[in-house]
Amino acid sequence: MFNIRTKIKAILQSENANYEATVMGWVRTFRNNQFIALNDGSTNSNIQVMVELGLLTDETIKRITTGACVKATGQIVASLGKGQKYELKATAIEILGDSDAEKFPLQPKKHSLEFLREIAHLRMRTNTFGAIFRVRHSLAYAIHKFYNDRGFVYMHTPIITGSDAEGAGEMFKVTTLPLDGTAAKNDDGSINFKEDFFGKSTNLTVSGQLEGELAAMAFSEVYTFGPTFRAENSNTTRHLAEFWMIEPEVAFNDLEDNMNLAEDFIKYIITYAMEHNADDLAFLAQRLEEEEKQKPTNERSEMGLLEKLNFVVNNDFERVTYTEAIDILRESNHNKKKKFQYLIDGWGIDLQSEHERYLVEKHFKKPVILTNYPKDIKAFYMRQNDDGKTVAAMDILVPGIGEMVGGSQREERLDKLTQRMNEMHIPTDEMSFYLDTRRFGACPHAGFGLGFERLILFVTGMTNIRDVIPFPRYPKSAAF
Ligand code: 4AD
Ligand code: MG
Repeated sequence: MFNIRTKIKAILQSENANYEATVMGWVRTFRNNQFIALNDGSTNSNIQVMVELGLLTDETIKRITTGACVKATGQIVASLGKGQKYELKATAIEILGDSDAEKFPLQPKKHSLEFLREIAHLRMRTNTFGAIFRVRHSLAYAIHKFYNDRGFVYMHTPIITGSDAEGAGEMFKVTTLPLDGTAAKNDDGSINFKEDFFGKSTNLTVSGQLEGELAAMAFSEVYTFGPTFRAENSNTTRHLAEFWMIEPEVAFNDLEDNMNLAEDFIKYIITYAMEHNADDLAFLAQRLEEEEKQKPTNERSEMGLLEKLNFVVNNDFERVTYTEAIDILRESNHNKKKKFQYLIDGWGIDLQSEHERYLVEKHFKKPVILTNYPKDIKAFYMRQNDDGKTVAAMDILVPGIGEMVGGSQREERLDKLTQRMNEMHIPTDEMSFYLDTRRFGACPHAGFGLGFERLILFVTGMTNIRDVIPFPRYPKSAAF
């Protein structure tokens, strides 16, 4: 078998030395023709491979370059050098894959995140992106563990959908019709989607919620975790055209149960990452600290990354109604001094991210769950409150990110739901499958969607959402 190797993480973590091992990985640096820093992605730390003079021919030595893939066999010994407990004293080195040092874009120096985004296929081989994507993996695992341990059923909801019922955002069309103008047309000149692959117009999903609700009416507690797509032209550090969302949906839960679930969930997965990715998070914390030093003092965050994560895990989220939030914002000095781009003067407006960030970063200084929004700025399926003006919605806002979760108790009363759909011009005939849950055994239920990449931003301290998904899709960019 070729792949008899020990992971670098296992060697560095073990409590003993003086045994033979084979490691394989990619060269980060090669110093003095003697010391290879080798990384295999199992941990942020490299193993130092010591190449004694005379072991290799000059020709082989020349091939040990940054980026090359190397197999090294030798004795694991206590290291005399600083910075590592053990090193591998090589008895044999094999170059598995050469890497032309002149052409390899990753040099052993600091590169900007912008540059690394252009070489997303290689950036995973840096310390920063190694740490980010190992944390991303852990969070994904913790999400499944959280729901599995609580008896939720993981539902795979469709990626191609036949309706834009959600209204959550602009959708990407899915079609096999020709784009050269020869597609069959209706009498009125519009495209005849009966001729299309599915016999109807289809899109990429913006959310698995509606299907999640159907499943919750059978399994009581379900969740989805999959990619979702929005064709909004939002060129921001918080939006992707393709992002991953986790959507639990729970029968018999009301808005308060929903908030409790979301808060427990967020705290659980952050704790999991802190326990299982301590090295990666320590590295990212250090990275953030250095980045913060470049900023003017008044713009620096008050807490370091680990401090912030601990704070979030150990403190209750603030629960505030939309109406209370509007009062706070309207009365704030920020508003009075006209520092908001969108000034707050009345009830009913949708909050902009500047308002959300003011609430969490300046006013409460902790995560905030905002509830009971005006019905006119929220989706049709949210449960109508008795005041006739608001719905049982909840958004969770977190420092540095803004909205991380959007959810609600759902309207389970058929008459109220259809009335609202009519008001909002949502075709009830197309949505008959959804309304069936209200016709046959309806019950109170609630759910939410957590944006996976926004969570990763929060946990890693990164500031651009394009840096926490391996291959980001955003306007004018679908490389790799
Ligand atoms: O608030 P949203 O639009 O809610 C829904 O889609 C509901 N159907 C969820 C539910 O109740 N089951 O999106 C949920 C979350 C947001 O809070 C945000 O974190 C994230 O998804 N999100 C995005 N993340 C990255 N890029 C985008 N373009 C995003 N749009 C939403
Ligand atoms: Mg939302």
